[in-house]
Amino acid sequence: MIRYSELDTIKLIHSIRETMADKKTHRLAVITGGASGIGLGTVKRFLNEGYEVLILDANKEAGDKSVNNLKSDTCNVNFIHCDIAKHEQIESIFQNLLNNNRPAHVLVNCAGISPALNPLHKYSVEEWHRTIDINLHGTFYACREFLKLATALKINEGAIVNVASIMGTRASAAQASYGASKHAVVGLTKSIAQDYATMNIRANAVGPGVIDTPMNTELMKDDDVMQYLLQRVPLKRVATSDEVANLIYFLASSEASYITGSFYPIDGGYLAG
Ligand code: NAI
Repeated sequence: MIRYSELDTIKLIHSIRETMADKKTHRLAVITGGASGIGLGTVKRFLNEGYEVLILDANKEAGDKSVNNLKSDTCNVNFIHCDIAKHEQIESIFQNLLNNNRPAHVLVNCAGISPALNPLHKYSVEEWHRTIDINLHGTFYACREFLKLATALKINEGAIVNVASIMGTRASAAQASYGASKHAVVGLTKSIAQDYATMNIRANAVGPGVIDTPMNTELMKDDDVMQYLLQRVPLKRVATSDEVANLIYFLASSEASYITGSFYPIDGGYLAG
């Protein structure tokens, strides 16, 4: 009997330690694109788990509004208005964290755009560059600064979750720049996983299918397009931001401690068909 109760106590302490490890109030999650959609859902999830959250987003109005709505005695959330595609801005934000000796344990890259649909010969050079600059280069800048900070402050565990897309592994008509940027984000994520595993920093990518966010407001008004899309989704519905946030949080948490360098679709079964 005594052995059983000792075992139970050890199990309890172990489980509290694990919970504390994930819910430590002073752990910081930096979330780009956190003012809207999947990013905002992810911000809420990390706050609920006891993280401090720093939102980086180009939409000042939405960022201010989100922080005002979310800030409370128990929720520590801040917003910096910035353009993820401007590396000087991202460098200065992370340099500030370093100056304050403030490590970040999690980086989630949600900031992204979906350009107008066009076959390649109709693409403007500007539109091509804008998509790659935000979706790929912005993700690179944030990852690089997060890793510089982690290295300088010698953190011994951390996680990056990059939001790619199902277009990170397959293609869809008239979305060449988006598909190219998201394929590259998956490749970038795998490379980071190789380089930083010895620091216990994991990197994974998620691949949402069709998610009900402001990015899709117009698309979701078009019944014909939605019918066409949903025919290809075995679960026959779009997902919520919170469903994607659940996967992102899981991959960043210690529950996923042996998962790195992977790509996880969250698409209602779309890619399996
Ligand atoms: P959203 O439009 O609701 O949110 C995107 C956020 O990124 C916005 O707050 C926007 O201000 C911010 N952002 C855009 N450009 C920025 C820049 N240069 N600097 C800083 N912030 C910037 O879109 P949603 O749907 O939440 O998308 C989030 C991520 O998920 C994107 O990377 C998107 O490509 C990806 N995704 C979305 C899918 C969907 O169906 N909604 C499907 C697959 C991937």
